[in-house]
Amino acid sequence: MEFISRHPDQTRRLGTRLGLMLQVGDLVCLEGELGSGKTTLVQGIASGWGSPDLVTSPTFVLVNVYRHPQGRRFFHVDAYRLANPGEAEDLDIIGMLEQGAVVVEWADRIRSILPAQNLWVKMRWVDEDQRDMLFRAYGDRYLSLLAELRHQIYGVS
Ligand SMILES: Nc1ncnc2c1ncn2[C@@H]1O[C@H](COP(=O)(O)OP(=O)(O)OP(=O)(O)O)[C@@H](O)[C@H]1O
Ligand SMILES: [Mg+2]
Repeated sequence: MEFISRHPDQTRRLGTRLGLMLQVGDLVCLEGELGSGKTTLVQGIASGWGSPDLVTSPTFVLVNVYRHPQGRRFFHVDAYRLANPGEAEDLDIIGMLEQGAVVVEWADRIRSILPAQNLWVKMRWVDEDQRDMLFRAYGDRYLSLLAELRHQIYGVS
């Protein structure tokens, strides 16, 4: 599924729709250059998920954990500063997936240690206000997630 966003709020709203649908164990992988809108999308995802916390870029801390009143967790990982896949393995993304939903920025940098089943989002800077997002589903869970998202946005599946 391809989606063109013309405003940061539009990107956030799309993220919110996705965040509402996420369950414990879901993995969303974000790929895209600096400023392509990854963190903006995550802000929406976290609010849809139900986190009252403000989302900031975890660039200097690798992982931000957002709590939810019902005890579920939302993990926001930024792989930009990881030196190697071994370091990524130490993060224990599998362990995070047991406790909540996980979104990874710069996922392409640690692809080798990520579960093969995921929702992959490739984000691209088009111009000052426009971002292109390409959604690809790997695995049945993500195919139905993407079908539902498409249905919500366009009213068709
Ligand atoms: N349609 C749009 N969607 C998302 N962001 C947009 C859009 N138009 C403009 N922007 C701006 O682009 C910037 C995107 O920054 P953001 O931090 O989300 O990118 P990023 O991909 O996370 O970058 P980094 O790789 O540095 O973490 C923000 O300043 C945002 O306001
Ligand atoms: Mg970012």
